[in-house]
Amino acid sequence: MRRKARRGGARQVELTIEGLGALGDGLAKLEGRPVFLPQTLPGERVRARITGERGGAYRGEILELLEASADRVEAPCPHFGPCGGCKLQHFAAAPYEDWKTQQVRQALQRQGFSPEVLRPLHRVAAGSRRRAVFAATKAGGRLLLGFNQRASHRLVDLDSCLLLTPALQALLAPLRQALSGLLAEGELGDVAANETAEGIDLCLVSPRSPDLAAREALATFAEANDLARISWSPPRGEAEPIAQRRPPRVFFGGVAVEPPPGAFLQPSLEGEAFLTQRILDYLPDGAARGADLYAGCGTFTLPLARHLRVHAVEGDEAAVAALWAAARHADLSGRISVEARDLARQPVLPEELNGGDVVVFDPPRAGAREQAEALAASSIPTVIAISCNPQTLARDAAILCQGGYDLIEVTPLDQFPWTGHLELVALLRR
Ligand SMILES: C[S@@+](CC[C@H](N)C(=O)[O-])C[C@H]1O[C@@H](n2cnc3c(N)ncnc32)[C@H](O)[C@@H]1O
Repeated sequence: MRRKARRGGARQVELTIEGLGALGDGLAKLEGRPVFLPQTLPGERVRARITGERGGAYRGEILELLEASADRVEAPCPHFGPCGGCKLQHFAAAPYEDWKTQQVRQALQRQGFSPEVLRPLHRVAAGSRRRAVFAATKAGGRLLLGFNQRASHRLVDLDSCLLLTPALQALLAPLRQALSGLLAEGELGDVAANETAEGIDLCLVSPRSPDLAAREALATFAEANDLARISWSPPRGEAEPIAQRRPPRVFFGGVAVEPPPGAFLQPSLEGEAFLTQRILDYLPDGAARGADLYAGCGTFTLPLARHLRVHAVEGDEAAVAALWAAARHADLSGRISVEARDLARQPVLPEELNGGDVVVFDPPRAGAREQAEALAASSIPTVIAISCNPQTLARDAAILCQGGYDLIEVTPLDQFPWTGHLELVALLRR
């Protein structure tokens, strides 16, 4: 692979960009093979260098823009390009929205759905991202903090990021300083940052447990920056608190939840509110019983529990414990039941679901093939699918439709501005 990349590296070509790939890179053809060229737009003519080759496709980088698209705009962020966070800041708003919508339309059409089910894209503004996972490393004695470039460990050191909420933005500089004692030269770490109602909750992931001096420095940093909590975790291990100044809390349907360190939250409050409202709007009249699968800490379970009894299923035990503690504290334990379960290995079966009125499911990017197959064999009248991947949403919807459901509508929600990613909410009924 490395040899190919070097050989390709010598090669310069002139290319016309024919479209955009699924993740937002420009797409050209060379000798009948696709070439992915970041920061280019359809219709543009570029001089490019081929930098590598993988899976029958070339990757390249632009050396000169020979003919620019009329849809090209000035990227607002100085880090755009090398930073792995954004792909499409150089794309004007209207064609950008069309392209995002087109991603969903194509995914649906590939599974045989009519484009008529597609509703208009709802956009969430930049500057609203309250959850982010940063990569960190130490190189040449300097601590670098930012987003990894896709499929690479190259890290662009960020001093600002237009995606983040102001509170997370303001934390970048002091955080970089505070992490200095945590990583040795060349070591890689991650920082999961969640902005909660009680302040920022940070979970640092690094190979070595911080020594006493590093822990003291991190506790001082938490104090100086008024963090709610800071924790440390080994990769794929259990998090331990370093300093908790206030319990971090988020509110779902008005109920306070204390998420575990590094917990999944919807990336923006506005996106969360939009999805929650859609789910509530889709509830069938008189619904009394339902299930929330891939429930996380209860983002949708708790608002749903105001209207019906909900069984919440989630694979992460810490998230399940957080949801259950919140439900009990809010006197909702009679309306909510919880279960820690791996839904890929052990999907909730039709006989467990039947008798319910609605199922909400919100799997990770890989989708919920096994759970969709079980749902397809159930008699649940209304299914609401949330997804961050148009391909797997369309696939799972197709599985449900083979079992007798109709896909009624799909709404794309752009809560990942300037990236190739999208959130979706879909309504299915039998
Ligand atoms: C996209 S998140 C959605 C969480 C929640 N609905 C929310 O909006 O906050 C997907 C969730 O699925 C959980 N998950 C991933 N794989 C799983 C599996 N095999 N079984 C059960 N849950 C799983 C993750 O822990 C995560 O909480």
